[in-house]
Formats: sequence, structure tokens, C-alpha cells
Amino acid sequence: MELALTAVLLSLLPVALQESTPALPSGSSLMNEIDLDAVCGRPRMTGRIVSGQDAQLGQWPWQVSLRENGEHVCGGSLIAEDWVLTAAHCFHQNQPLSSYVVLLGSISSYPQADEPQEFQAVAQFIIYPDYSEKLGTGDIALVQLASPVNFTDLILPVCLPKPGDPLGNGTWCWVTGWGNIAANQPLPPPFTLKEVNVPLIDTQTCDAYYQENSNNPSQEPIIFEDMLCAGFESGQKDACGGDSGGPLVCDVGVWTQAGIVSWGYDCGLPKRPGVYINVSVYTTWITSQIQSSAQGVRAFFPARLLVLIPLGAALAAVGLA
Ligand SMILES: *[C@@H]1O[C@H](CO)[C@@H](O)[C@H](O)[C@H]1NC(C)=O
Ligand SMILES: *[C@@H]1O[C@H](CO)[C@@H](O)[C@H](O)[C@H]1NC(C)=O
Ligand SMILES: *[C@@H]1O[C@H](CO)[C@@H](O)[C@H](O)[C@H]1NC(C)=O
Repeated sequence: MELALTAVLLSLLPVALQESTPALPSGSSLMNEIDLDAVCGRPRMTGRIVSGQDAQLGQWPWQVSLRENGEHVCGGSLIAEDWVLTAAHCFHQNQPLSSYVVLLGSISSYPQADEPQEFQAVAQFIIYPDYSEKLGTGDIALVQLASPVNFTDLILPVCLPKPGDPLGNGTWCWVTGWGNIAANQPLPPPFTLKEVNVPLIDTQTCDAYYQENSNNPSQEPIIFEDMLCAGFESGQKDACGGDSGGPLVCDVGVWTQAGIVSWGYDCGLPKRPGVYINVSVYTTWITSQIQSSAQGVRAFFPARLLVLIPLGAALAAVGLA
């Protein structure tokens, strides 16, 4: 009896595999990508833009706040319904997943009860495997939200750079964040998001700035190939502590994320512009992580079908069902 059932099961397995595969929701991931391309980088609410000033509600709808135990620790950007891009150094390995929460759709990092806001639990974070805490290279991480958000006027994704996007030296971009407004000077209540307009600075130019007065006789690079800088030789307008993980975005027809706020030496000093991870270096990694997570979910279905369908069919075949 048991033998017969096993034999029937085995003989049905290949059939079940073939029949179940086309029925899987395999097109959904592709559809999401097409939808994302059509929706990303297009804020629905536009306001005046003045550098170093308060942002307006809905102006940067991809901006999120990453919170550890209820406290804003880093910025981040929404890049898909359930994915946020941020910096690797925002996470502490000894913290449980449950200590992290993402705040979306808010102009304030500590919104009042009557202000728009959406909190999302974190399903997983993926730190770039070759992230070097010492050098700051690969300072990039992905956060998967516990459930996908619905896009609204206040919650929309930013576009990722594509080959050919003009995000080179001198392009004017915007960095947004709830970080310090000067060295050791935290953003005061009501904690309104700030925006700063800065030009991109290429790796070589930025490294030359940082080598000056650096006590780095070895001439080892300080700014690596996966980094870019933004700001001014003279300093002043800059990202600052607490902006980490947040987006540096440029309007190239649609708003596209050129950089992730990574580090800086103090804030706004001459020849010490803010340092960012160059997102276009990691676009392929980001896309592949999101796709393999989606496939991980999909792979679950065939496994379940294999158990359920053959067993049901087998039971029917031996006259038990
Ligand atoms: C998104 O919208 C659907 C349908 O209206 C709703 O059931 C779901 O709870 C919403 N999700 C979030 C995260 O608000
Ligand atoms: C990039 O821009 C800076 C500042 O405008 C300039 O000094 C530098 O020469 C430029 N680098 C390249 C490679 O063109
Ligand atoms: C960022 O990286 C891309 C691709 O590697 C490169 O073409 C681009 O010039 C870099 N951006 C800056 C501002 O250096």
C-alpha cells in the first residue's frame, strides 16, 4: 500500500512539475518593473526649491526615515513597493530585525499624530557583502518592508540610474535629510526635512581635495571608485550627520538617485565635500537582489504544488480520496 502510493507519487512528480510551472505568477515581477519605470522619479506635488531650506510635503516622496528603537538613525529612499535603499553602516549587527522600522510619507522625522505618516516593519535587510567598514567602500544596503506600500502623492519611488544617464561631474543634484544642520547641531523641532542643492564632484577630483592636509603620506586613495562627492571646494552647503543612507537625486527628465549619503569629514568644510556611494556602480547588484528575493517567494509555490497536487492525485488514483 505504502509502496504503491510512493510509486504513484513518483510517477506523477514530473507531470505535476510541468503542469504547475506555467500556472505560476511568473509575470508579476516583470510587470512590477514596467510599472516602476512608469511611476518612479515623478513627484505629484511640486513646490519651490530653495537650497538649504525646509522641503515641502510631497516634494521628495521617496525619502524615508530608518528608525532603530524608535529613533531616527538614517535616511533612505523608496525604490520599489517594498524596497528601500540605504547605507550599510546604518545597521548594527547585534540589533534584532524587530528594532528597525521605516517611516514613509512624512515631512517630519518625528511627525505629530495628525500629520501624514506610515510606519512599516522590516522583513529583512541585505548589506552589501563586500562592505568595508574601514574603507567605507560598498556602504550600501537594501531593506525589504514587511508589506508593500501603496503609492500615493506622498509615497513614490525614485528611479535608479540607467546606463547613459548623465550623472557626471558638475551635474546639479539635491540631497535631502533630517540630519544635523551643522556639526553636532541636531535638527530642531518640528524636524522638517531639509534639502540642499549641490553639484557632483568626480572621484579623482574629490580624492585630490581629501588628500590635501590629510596626513596620508602613503597616497592611498581616500575616495574610492564606488564613491562620488557632492558640494563645493569652498565647503558650506553639505550633507551632515544623520543624513546617512539618504538620497542624492538629480533631475534628468525623471528624478534619479545618483548617490547614497555615506560619510564626510565634519560638515561643510573647504575641500571636504560630502561623500556618497555612486549608485550606478551598484544598479546591477540592487536589481539582482530584488529579483532573487522575488524568485525566492515564487520558488515556494512549485514546492507546495509538488506536495499537494501529486498527493491529491495519488490518493484519488488509489481510490482513497
Ligand atoms: C494598500 O491598499 C489595499 C487596498 O486598498 C489595502 O488593503 C492595504 O492595506 C493597503 N496597504 C497599506 C500598506 O496601506
Ligand atoms: C570636475 O569638476 C570640478 C569642479 O568644477 C573641476 O575642478 C574638475 O576639473 C572636473 N573634473 C573633470 C574630470 O572634468
Ligand atoms: C558613477 O559611476 C558611473 C559608472 O561607474 C560613472 O560613469 C560615473 O562617472 C560616476 N559618477 C561620478 C560623479 O563620478
